[in-house]
Amino acid sequence: MSKREAFIEKLREIAVSTPTEIIEVPDKVEGFGTVVYESQTCSACKKCMDVCEVDALDIQLTLNLPEYLAATIPEDGFRSKNREALVFLLQHLKQNGEVQAISVPTGLPGYGSISWVQDKCIACNKCVEICPENCLTLEKQYDLQAVIGEVVSPPVVEVKEWEPFIICFVCWECSHAAADLAGLMHLHYPANIRTIRVPCSGAVEPIHIMTAMQNGADGVLVTGCLFDECHYGGDDELAGNFMQYDFVQFWKQVFEGIGLGGRLHIDFASAAMGIKFTEIVTEFVQQIEELGPSPLRGKLEVEE
Ligand code: FES
Repeated sequence: MSKREAFIEKLREIAVSTPTEIIEVPDKVEGFGTVVYESQTCSACKKCMDVCEVDALDIQLTLNLPEYLAATIPEDGFRSKNREALVFLLQHLKQNGEVQAISVPTGLPGYGSISWVQDKCIACNKCVEICPENCLTLEKQYDLQAVIGEVVSPPVVEVKEWEPFIICFVCWECSHAAADLAGLMHLHYPANIRTIRVPCSGAVEPIHIMTAMQNGADGVLVTGCLFDECHYGGDDELAGNFMQYDFVQFWKQVFEGIGLGGRLHIDFASAAMGIKFTEIVTEFVQQIEELGPSPLRGKLEVEE
């Protein structure tokens, strides 16, 4: 199973409601997008298919005539195969009235329609770059519903004496030290969190967040060094914490879409900020208390 397939399967497993909104993908978040195709100018050269490493593109030997006829049609001569095909297509339309798509005669190059599979696409942009006719573009949008389909909401279960259970990823360099300092200072924050040390906040992957939720967490908190102080990039805009911040903004929208809104948060504290770390945790625990138990608990109970 590819990484993308594993990701989508996990997404389907933790979804508790059907997404309705198209998600905007932040600039720095790679791997997610929508390929838009304009068939009018496509010469069916298949270069986009050749360059795609995940087989997200295919060619259909059909033409969408309404779109095709909207293009400027050359009127001089019938010498080439392509022009013969054009006449054939126009005549076919005339004969059949409201034709939406027709088959391309075998052996006639230069005609066809590219189809795109969002499930497989990793938004690498290679097909866009190689297309000689500029008929492909990559939009920073993601249609969650198209990927995970309709979701059956799990039953609501009554949880007695519930306490929030929160997974908190702490970066080894700063926020973990901040948590330690909070302990040394005898600062009290809710004992509802389980910390997991990671080398950098940027090392937390979506699959880690989803797995935490799938295993019963009511919320996930990611913490890292202050902006400009990440040990993997400092003030570089590609530093781990900068990148993770944008990722989490995207993932918050994904969580919203699948019925887990408000259960993911990212924040930052330096090693000297025991008090700040305490505040971050306390506020997030309060937020989860207001939301109540994760609706995934119903799913877990059904599966048990
Ligand atoms: Fe702490 Fe990167 S090392 S967030």
